[in-house]
Amino acid sequence: MSGKSIAFVIEKGGTGKSTIAFNIGWYLSKKHKVLFLDLDGQMANLTYFCGVSKEGILTIGNILDGDADLESAAVNVKPNLHIIPADNSITGIGTPAHFDKLSESVELKTSQDYQLFLIERMQEFIRSACEHYDYVLLDPNPSPNYLHTLALCSCEYVIIPVLPDAASVVSDEGTAESLDIVRETGINEDVRVLGILFNRYTDRTNLSKQVRKITEDFAREMGTTIFKNTIRNSVVLSECVGMHTGITDYRPSSPAAEDVRKVAAEIKRRMRNGH
Ligand SMILES: Nc1ncnc2c1ncn2[C@@H]1O[C@H](COP(=O)(O)OP(=O)(O)OP(=O)(O)O)[C@@H](O)[C@H]1O
Ligand SMILES: [Mg+2]
Repeated sequence: MSGKSIAFVIEKGGTGKSTIAFNIGWYLSKKHKVLFLDLDGQMANLTYFCGVSKEGILTIGNILDGDADLESAAVNVKPNLHIIPADNSITGIGTPAHFDKLSESVELKTSQDYQLFLIERMQEFIRSACEHYDYVLLDPNPSPNYLHTLALCSCEYVIIPVLPDAASVVSDEGTAESLDIVRETGINEDVRVLGILFNRYTDRTNLSKQVRKITEDFAREMGTTIFKNTIRNSVVLSECVGMHTGITDYRPSSPAAEDVRKVAAEIKRRMRNGH
């Protein structure tokens, strides 16, 4: 099996990365094997949405340290859907303290050795996860911290969820720069932006129209396009995650559930068409 890894990334908080990753992953797991990778130690929203308690969990931190593997860390959410959960401990990854700790068991002379070691371990982990799952969905936190960088260094595709406001689009610049760096250094040359996805979207306001225009120009510069389908503003979407259920099961006939199904279909289509 050669699964697809997709990171939901933008250097701006609150655009719906975790909500979208959860709902898309939940829906895809009806027919496919899906693994969530929670990379946001501070919030651990995806872990919470999945209804997984943080007690006794193994995280990406344990995997990078070599103390856990896919099988021991993955928690069952429902048939076909697993998560590598997160807790606050992973916020230490990339810090001098973690470098010192890891140097006790691995020979790492310089901080560059340390960084390359983490990148290689992460890439190796994502590769092996893609042998067991059809989709591996990564949810890093918004600030460009080390786990955010590791996600960009190791995933095959990136989806950029934006809100229809100017601040969202301006924040895309940071993501574009980070992507340029991982491509140009050869760390993840082939990483592709699958598209820019509007969340909480309405096409009725003038503001949305203006932002759409700016975003189209920006997408062109990044060599990508805006998803044809969008996700509307819906209280059901913020409600269902608290009930630990994807909207496509929680309220299958709601308009927002239809949005999620359409976006999931477009994700598959875009991957097939080599976006
Ligand atoms: N389409 C939507 N309709 C209504 N509410 C939404 C929608 N998408 C997200 N939200 C709400 O917006 C808030 C932010 O969403 P979410 O946590 O998914 O964003 P995020 O990008 O993951 O945030 P962070 O950057 O902090 O990780 C949450 O309260 C969520 O319930
Ligand atoms: Mg989040």
